[in-house]
Amino acid sequence: MACLQRKGLQARILTSEEKEKLQSDQALVSDFKQQKLENEAQKNWDLFYKRNSTNFFKDRHWTTREFEELKSCREFEGQKLTLLEAGCGVGNCLFPLLEEDLNIFAYACDFSPRAVEYVKVLKPGKNVLFRDYGLYDHTMLRFKASSKLGENFYVRQDGTRSYFFTEEFLTRLFVGSGYEEVVNEYVFRETVNKKEGLCVPRVFLQGKFRRPPRDLSTAALYHQAGDCISP
Ligand SMILES: C[S@@+](CC[C@H](N)C(=O)[O-])C[C@H]1O[C@@H](n2cnc3c(N)ncnc32)[C@H](O)[C@@H]1O
Repeated sequence: MACLQRKGLQARILTSEEKEKLQSDQALVSDFKQQKLENEAQKNWDLFYKRNSTNFFKDRHWTTREFEELKSCREFEGQKLTLLEAGCGVGNCLFPLLEEDLNIFAYACDFSPRAVEYVKVLKPGKNVLFRDYGLYDHTMLRFKASSKLGENFYVRQDGTRSYFFTEEFLTRLFVGSGYEEVVNEYVFRETVNKKEGLCVPRVFLQGKFRRPPRDLSTAALYHQAGDCISP
């Protein structure tokens, strides 16, 4: 198994087969079902952890490579770094970080009662580090017909939902709320299994946004809601 990675501002170019598949899957899940999924989002994630316990997501050992701020933001050696992970799940992102760096203090929150939940108001002048599914990720193209909730928004069999972010949407979200955009780009990875002749195109959207220091509500936050195939 080999893994190739590149980054870019443009979305992945689809093959004609992939385009056709997306165009033929335009029917949306009914309003009633959408509302039910929204109301039951917390319950569905909680049931997900009941079924999978800590066995679903792989530990994410790439966070300090992708977000070098996690190391370089310190003003002096040994300075304690405080961060918040929103949607921490069972800690596949946090625990490798805490193991690697003893000077990290982390708050974590997740709406599944099976996950640890803490809340913290964060200090000024820090960054929001973002990583989630990107447009046309392999998993987006694998959704069956009648799983579509809206543009780039899909539901799995178990009721958990996935949104596939575009670079433009993330810019609107953060810049519209007063953040400065530092980085906002697609991360393209290809998982190649030579034996089986398979090449799986993974796409993530990765961003860094900074709240101008004058705003006291600035956050230092890491958000990751990617899926089970960790880069
Ligand atoms: C795909 S998992 C990722 C977990 C973890 N960040 C990781 O990297 O392994 C997404 C997590 O986000 C949580 N989540 C989804 N929507 C949420 C919300 N509105 N509020 C709090 N947590 C949420 C889910 O319960 C789930 O644990």
